[in-house]
Amino acid sequence: MVKTNYLVIGSGVAGLTFAVKMAEKHPERNVIIVTKGDEDESNTKYAQGGIAVVLDMEEDSFQKHIQDTLVAGDGLCDKDVVEMVVKEGPKRLKELIAWEANFDLNSEGDFDLGKEGGHSEYRVVHHKDVTGYEVERALLKRVHQLPNIELLAYHFAIDLITDHQLEKQSSKGISCYGAYVLNQKNGEILTIKADHTLLASGGIGRVYGHTTNPIIATGDGIAMAYRAKALIKDMEFIQFHPTALYNPEGGSYFLISEAVRGFGAYLRNKAGYRFMPDYDDRAELASRDIVSQCIDNELKKSGDTHVFLDCTHLDMVAFKKHFPNIYDKCLEYHIDVEKDYIPVVPASHYLCGGIVVDKQGKTSIDNLFACGECSRTGLHGANRLASNSLLEALVYAHNIFKYLSVDTLDSRPLNIPDWNDEGTSIPKEHVLIQHNLKELQALMRNYVGIVRSNKRLHKAIARLDLIYREVEELYKESKITTTLCELRNMVNVAHVIISQSLEQKENRGGYFNKDYQKEGK
Ligand code: FAD
Ligand code: SIN
Repeated sequence: MVKTNYLVIGSGVAGLTFAVKMAEKHPERNVIIVTKGDEDESNTKYAQGGIAVVLDMEEDSFQKHIQDTLVAGDGLCDKDVVEMVVKEGPKRLKELIAWEANFDLNSEGDFDLGKEGGHSEYRVVHHKDVTGYEVERALLKRVHQLPNIELLAYHFAIDLITDHQLEKQSSKGISCYGAYVLNQKNGEILTIKADHTLLASGGIGRVYGHTTNPIIATGDGIAMAYRAKALIKDMEFIQFHPTALYNPEGGSYFLISEAVRGFGAYLRNKAGYRFMPDYDDRAELASRDIVSQCIDNELKKSGDTHVFLDCTHLDMVAFKKHFPNIYDKCLEYHIDVEKDYIPVVPASHYLCGGIVVDKQGKTSIDNLFACGECSRTGLHGANRLASNSLLEALVYAHNIFKYLSVDTLDSRPLNIPDWNDEGTSIPKEHVLIQHNLKELQALMRNYVGIVRSNKRLHKAIARLDLIYREVEELYKESKITTTLCELRNMVNVAHVIISQSLEQKENRGGYFNKDYQKEGK
């Protein structure tokens, strides 16, 4: 058994920020970070637009950022949380800069602030169009400088250890004691006992297949917390990003940042018509739930597979300076942004709900914390405002650190059983995993997408049940593999998304059900 003070599951902005803060302040305490895959693979690494922070107090104000967040969240944000996160933003950004993350400056030496959908002011700090890559680089560099952090790459967290594994019945509720972790290189399963466990395991984009998220985004942390009976909420609020580069092959979609629309790009249909002003006064800069629903409507009317983003009227020298990665990526696909329209389509991008936490990041399970995209803080309500996610992760990592800094460590001796894989064998037919995965993703796209209906949701739950049974059977008889666990986790997550969708009885933000359509909408 491996023992640690803090077990962090995930090495994106949320997990790394917490680990760095705790390790810096408490050299006598130790932190283990486990992460499946390469140490930098995460949604964080691909963040483009930047971090929303109020810095220009002449033009902007905390109040304006708070208001924009509340409007985007369509009445379902927790106002106290919004206020706390927005006001903490500048301090958390300062720390990131102290850890040597670089952000673009303008010719006067001030931060070059971008604008995205739903923002009333320019307030998005960024590093060209690869902000997340820069944040991840700086945090990992700091992690490797701290001797009391051990980062275990290619280590997959399978399940949380709770009273359930200990067969303990506690009148005080469920506690978490760490996690079972698969060493993906040698197949060994570690029992990691931790005084406190932090889920920082990111989002769920892969549940839909067509997504801007990388392959790690399989909702593992949410599924683990769900199986451990933690409170999970707002899972119906899936954010579809309006402008993913159309990929006829499906799978991962490269993102064309909302900042490109903030820079002045137009959305046009196949006939070349600029349609967004017909739908919303903010046109291309309406919040992304609205823009995605409008594109969906245009596609349904025309039967086309995609619409276009037109950048041809923009200052190309400035464009290439701001968006070098997007420019180059388009060229790879033989799209010259200066002359050609970019084919785009909405794709699943972000989960607004997740594991319910309070302002200190505490979940409903003792000694279990959650931070970043896997958590549901109340900041986003029914729809996240662009570039509020990195901000949320930074603020909550700090809050959890502060809370645990004064907390005594929970070093109770416990007899935790090792992982028991008696009676299991190596799966003979990997193809079954792939078939079920494809079926699950098609089901979620077709029945639980941008526009839902109760009939489709009921169909989805019935079909999911068949997949669930097949996957559970496979899981029980097989030796643990990453792909099988991920599939099982995605099935769990899909179940929560569909059942919480059925419980949502009105259209809000990113949730749109035809059965609750208001007249004229
Ligand atoms: P991630 O960064 O996703 O990290 C999760 C970590 O957990 C990964 O290391 C993963 O490998 C690990 N993990 C998962 N499951 C397991 C397991 N079972 N065992 C071990 N490890 C596990 N937000 C903004 O605010 N601004 C932006 O400009 C922006 N642009 C974006 C662009 C793209 C293309 C995408 C996909 C997202 C963007 N977002 C943006 C959203 C934002 O990037 C994410 O919400 C945020 O980075 C999530 O951080 P995180 O630390 O919670 O999770
Ligand atoms: C983008 O750059 O469009 C993504 C920003 C975000 O998801 O917040």
